[in-house]
Amino acid sequence: MASRTPTIGGNWKMNLHLQDALDLATGLADAVTGAGVQVTVFPAFPYLMPVASVFANKHSPIRVGAQDCYHQPNGAFTGEVSLSMLQDVGCSVVLIGHSERRHVVGEADALINQKVHAALDAGFEVVLAIGELLEQREQGMTDFVNYGQVCLGLAGVSAEQMARVTIAYEPVWAIGTGKTATPEDAQQAHAAIRGCLKGIYNDETAQAVRIQYGGSMKPGNAGDLLAQPDIDGGLIGGASLKVEDFAAIIDAAAGVTA
Ligand code: 13P
Repeated sequence: MASRTPTIGGNWKMNLHLQDALDLATGLADAVTGAGVQVTVFPAFPYLMPVASVFANKHSPIRVGAQDCYHQPNGAFTGEVSLSMLQDVGCSVVLIGHSERRHVVGEADALINQKVHAALDAGFEVVLAIGELLEQREQGMTDFVNYGQVCLGLAGVSAEQMARVTIAYEPVWAIGTGKTATPEDAQQAHAAIRGCLKGIYNDETAQAVRIQYGGSMKPGNAGDLLAQPDIDGGLIGGASLKVEDFAAIIDAAAGVTA
């Protein structure tokens, strides 16, 4: 896995209520040492601060990130959350362009690009999520779709800023479906994404960017996926809601680098 420190994210999506979130955070803080792996969880907005407090009180290295942000600093944007609000509640990582934002809410690449710029300008780390739909894969358009989402999402982002960007490749057909890309298919897509980054930036920048895989990653398949040379971690939905499963995936990531 080159020299890139693996990064594992737990996207809690619109799941859990306060006590569940606190219990999960407490369990994770007890189970996860974080040695050799960067771990971030993405709770729903109302639980960012209480979950961050659990990790702080337990001196856990687990970080808290937001599932989305808005690019405007303040004003008449009902229902949106600004980056400075996220900073107020102890958050410095933000997920942008998740497939559920793209395909359920209808976010376009131009908005995603505005969010990426706003987040980087505010000093955040960004996890930019990309990935193809099933019909796009079946039409042989996987790399084409990924290139488009990378190029449009990162338009105007400098090579220097890329040090704070992680790409999450999440084939939409694998999210929450129990269908996982084979390690070979995922590796092929990741290598192509890295090639795209090399084209936009340069080899050094492309080699340094971490590319996470997401889509039905579980303890049973994490090891084989994470062993691929261009898979630098995972972004996990369902399996991140159970302490044992999420901890096992983190252990698999640590094992790959050990
Ligand atoms: P699942 O792990 O539930 O497939 O979700 C993946 C995901 O969307 C993470 O962002």
